[in-house]
Amino acid sequence: MFISTMEILIDAQNKGYAVPAFNIHNLETAMAVAETAEELKSPVILAATPGTFTFNGRKNIHAIVETIAGTTSVPLTLHLDHHTSFEDIKTSVDLGCRSVMIDASHYSFEENIKIVKEVVSYTHKVGGTVEAELGVLGGIEDDLEVNEDRAKYTDPDAAKEFAERTGIDSLAIAIGTAHGLYKSEPKLDYERLKQIKELVSIPLVLHGASGIPNENIKRTIELGICKVNIATELKISFSNALRQHLINHPSENDPRKYFLSAKEAVKKIVKEKILLCNSNNRA
Ligand code: 13P
Ligand code: ZN
Ligand code: NA
Repeated sequence: MFISTMEILIDAQNKGYAVPAFNIHNLETAMAVAETAEELKSPVILAATPGTFTFNGRKNIHAIVETIAGTTSVPLTLHLDHHTSFEDIKTSVDLGCRSVMIDASHYSFEENIKIVKEVVSYTHKVGGTVEAELGVLGGIEDDLEVNEDRAKYTDPDAAKEFAERTGIDSLAIAIGTAHGLYKSEPKLDYERLKQIKELVSIPLVLHGASGIPNENIKRTIELGICKVNIATELKISFSNALRQHLINHPSENDPRKYFLSAKEAVKKIVKEKILLCNSNNRA
């Protein structure tokens, strides 16, 4: 079922749970997320980065996720994750996508606002939802690598001004999470999250959830996070299961067989994360 991301996020905000956004990379991972969401009756966001669109073809990803959304009883949306090109966003919005992240977090505050406002204006015309980011996460996402010491935490007052001046629908914040796994246990700045939550009324988004202990994620949801982004743990489970299957079955050459265990491994993580976000039985 297609329901706008805004509606899903507002329900999560009102009821105190989070909607998980899973990065998909192909049909197999998209199906793994959709089937698990259906089993657990969880709304779910299928996120795709520019790299995923380049690899699969933008129209193909649209077609896959739209078709899946047409068959599930739970709300399921395609979301443009970490998009930096207005042209790519326009292409996807024109193709029917209604959930967009414009990531201009690497620019100056004023430049970030200027870029985001253009995307908001374009996307709101058709009733779409826009997420933007303030602060800079460490780690690796697609081709972008940010050294941990160059990561920038979100300033609460700036977050308030940013949300008001851009007119965005949700805000991605940097409170100590990073894309990818962590070299040592991440220290999350809960105090900062509390302050941001007090000043900013729109739903808050946590990026970089892979590798964060469950208790810490739970705490961020209690403090107001409404959307949790998970990518790396799905990539690891898929590739580890696939590798193990091919090692155990060295002459296997049927993708319908060797993708099965990889898909099951992804489903297991998706299930864990849905339960962690407490988004089950919400749809
Ligand atoms: P992880 O890869 O750390 O789960 O981060 C995912 C993410 O933030 C996608 O936008
Ligand atoms: Zn992210
Ligand atoms: Na992470």
